[in-house]
Amino acid sequence: MTVQESREEIVARVKERADIVQIIGETVDLKKSGARYLGLCPFHGEKTPSFSVHSGQQFFHCFGCGESGDVLSYMMKYHNLDFPSALKELAARYSITLPEKSRSPEQEKQEKARKQMFDVSKKVSEIYSRYLHSSSHASAARQYLARRNIPESIQKTFGLGYAPSTDSEGWDYLSGQLSTYDREAALEAGLLVKKENGGTYDRFRDRVLFPISELSGRVCGFGGRIIGEGQPKYLNSPESPIYNKSRLLLGLYQQKDAIRHKNQAIIVEGNFDLISLVSNGCENVVAPLGTALTREQLRLLKRFADEVVLLFDGDVAGVKAAIRSVPFFLAEQISGRVALLPSGHDPDTFIQEKGLGAIEQLVADAENLPEFVFNQLVEEFGLTLNGKSKIVEELRPLVKAAASPLQRSVVVSHFAEQLGLSSQQLDDMLDKPDAPPLPEEPPFERPEPPIRIEDRVVPLTAQQKRLVNFMVLNPECLPKLESGGIRECLGGSIGEILFLQLKALRQHNDEMEPEELLSVLPEGAERKYVADLLFDAPDVASDTEATVAEVEELVEWMSINTLKIASRKLLGEINKIATTSDFAKLQELLQEKQKIDRKLQGLEI
Ligand code: GTP
Ligand code: MN
Repeated sequence: MTVQESREEIVARVKERADIVQIIGETVDLKKSGARYLGLCPFHGEKTPSFSVHSGQQFFHCFGCGESGDVLSYMMKYHNLDFPSALKELAARYSITLPEKSRSPEQEKQEKARKQMFDVSKKVSEIYSRYLHSSSHASAARQYLARRNIPESIQKTFGLGYAPSTDSEGWDYLSGQLSTYDREAALEAGLLVKKENGGTYDRFRDRVLFPISELSGRVCGFGGRIIGEGQPKYLNSPESPIYNKSRLLLGLYQQKDAIRHKNQAIIVEGNFDLISLVSNGCENVVAPLGTALTREQLRLLKRFADEVVLLFDGDVAGVKAAIRSVPFFLAEQISGRVALLPSGHDPDTFIQEKGLGAIEQLVADAENLPEFVFNQLVEEFGLTLNGKSKIVEELRPLVKAAASPLQRSVVVSHFAEQLGLSSQQLDDMLDKPDAPPLPEEPPFERPEPPIRIEDRVVPLTAQQKRLVNFMVLNPECLPKLESGGIRECLGGSIGEILFLQLKALRQHNDEMEPEELLSVLPEGAERKYVADLLFDAPDVASDTEATVAEVEELVEWMSINTLKIASRKLLGEINKIATTSDFAKLQELLQEKQKIDRKLQGLEI
C-alpha cells in the first residue's frame, strides 16, 4: 500500500474485503433464502424476519423499519461507531493496514496531555462520587438530592458526586487527593485553578456534580449545581482540549440505548430535568450543557434516532431556542417536533407533579417544528402585509439552511402556502432583502389542514418511475439523461433529489456504483426508494444493447414530456396575462405555445 492511497480508495478496499454476510452474521442469525440472507432486524423489535442481507450487492435492508446501508453503515449503526472507528474496526478484522497518520512531536504531546486529562477526570469523578455517598460532610448534599426525589440508583447511573464546601474541607481539597502528575492535568482540565501567589484551589465547591461523558463513556468534564441558593446556580467545566460543550450532550452515554429503542430523543434544558425524567421512567432524554442546541449535537443524536422532540419551558426563551434550532434540523435532515410546558413548569416539576403519562402525552402531541415556528411567527407579527414581511425576514436564515436546492424549494413552497403567497413571490422576497412591499391580495385563508413538508414532494408517475429506476441502476447514462431534460421531467419529486445526488457523486467518480447512493442519502423516503430498488434489481450484468435501447426510448419520452411541461407552463402564463390588457405579450405567448404544440403533435404521431 502506498502512503498516497486516498481515503476513498481505502474505504473501497475495506468494503471489498469485508463480507457483509459474515459481519452481520456475527450479530444476527441469518438464513439463506434465494439470492439473499434473512434474519430478525436488530434495529427494531420483530418476530418475523424482514431484515435482508444481499451478498451480491453487499448491502442490507430491513423491510420492516426501512433501515439499510452497506457494511460500514451497519457497523456504525449497530455498534454506535463513528465512520473512522467503523473503518478502523473492519480494517483490523481483515488485516488491512490503514495509513498511519504521521504525527508530529507536538501532536504526540497533545495526545498524551489529553489522555492524562481523561484519566484525571475519571479519578476526580470517583473522588467526588465517593465523597457524596460516604462523607459525613456530604449529608446536606444527600438530603438535597433526596428532597429533589433523585433515587440513589439514578445518582449512581449518572455518577453524581459532591464537591465539598470550603467550610468542611477548605479551598484546596482536591489537589490533596491527587498525585503531582495528576495535578498538572487537573489544572489543564480546569478542575483546579492556579492562585496568583502559587498553589491551587478547587473549581467546584459545595456543588452537586454531574460528570459529563463522551459517547464512549470517558468522563471529560463536569456540571455543578450549587446546593440551595447561590450564584452562579450552575458552574460547568471550562472549555479544554477534552471538553467542548457544543459537541457533548449530558445523558447521551447513559440513555443512548433507550433513545435508539424508541427511535426518538427528547431534549430538555436542565440537568435536573434530565435525571428527573429518567428516574420517573421517561428514559430517551438528553440535555445540552446550558447552551442552545448545536448542529453537532443534532448530528450526534441522528446516529440513534430519526426524530428529536424539544421539550422546553413555555417561556419566551424556550420558544426562541426552538426557533433558533430549525436551521440545524433542516441541514441535518432530521425530523423535529416541539412541546412546550405549561407556564411555571419545567420538565422536572411537571413530571413530579403530573407523572409519566402526562409527559408522554405532551411528547406525543408535540407539534412539527416548521409548523410550530410558523405559528409562533404569526402570533408575534400577525398576517398583515407588514407582518408577513417581518415573518419573511425571520424565515430567511431558516431557508438558507436548507441542505439542497430541492429541499430549499420544498421549504419555500411550504411557507409560501402558509403565507398565502406563490413560491415565486416568497423566493423573490427572500432573495432581495429590501424587496418592495407585497401587493394587495385577497384576504388570507389558512390552508386546512396544514400540509406536512414531507408530503409535498410530488409522487412519481409510472413513466417517471421507470426513468428514475433506470437512472439509479445505470449511473453511467446520467449525462445522456441530463441533456435529455431529466431534471425538468422529475421536477419536485424524489427523482430530482436522486438525480442531484447522483450527479454530485459522479463528479468525484464517474464510474460510481449504484450502491454508493446509499452512503450519501440520509434516512428517509429517498434512501428507502433506492434500497428497495437495489434489492429487487436482477443480479445480472447489464446488457449493453438493451441499455442503449432503453436510453433512446427514455430520451424520446423526455423530449415529449419537456415540451408538455413547457406548454403547460405557457398556458399558466397566458391565463395570468389574459386578465391584464398586455395584448402584445399575450400574442407572443400564444405563438410560442402554438409552436410547441405543433412540435408535440409531430413527435407524438
Ligand atoms: P434547577 O432545577 O433549579 O436545578 O435547575 P434547572 O435544571 O431547572 O435549570 P434551569 O432551567 O435554571 O437552567 C437550565 C440549564 O441551564 C441548567 O441545567 C444549566 O445547564 C444551565 N444554567 C442555569 N443556570 C446557569 C448558570 O447560572 N450558569 C451556567 N453556566 N449555566 C446555567
Ligand atoms: Mn428545574
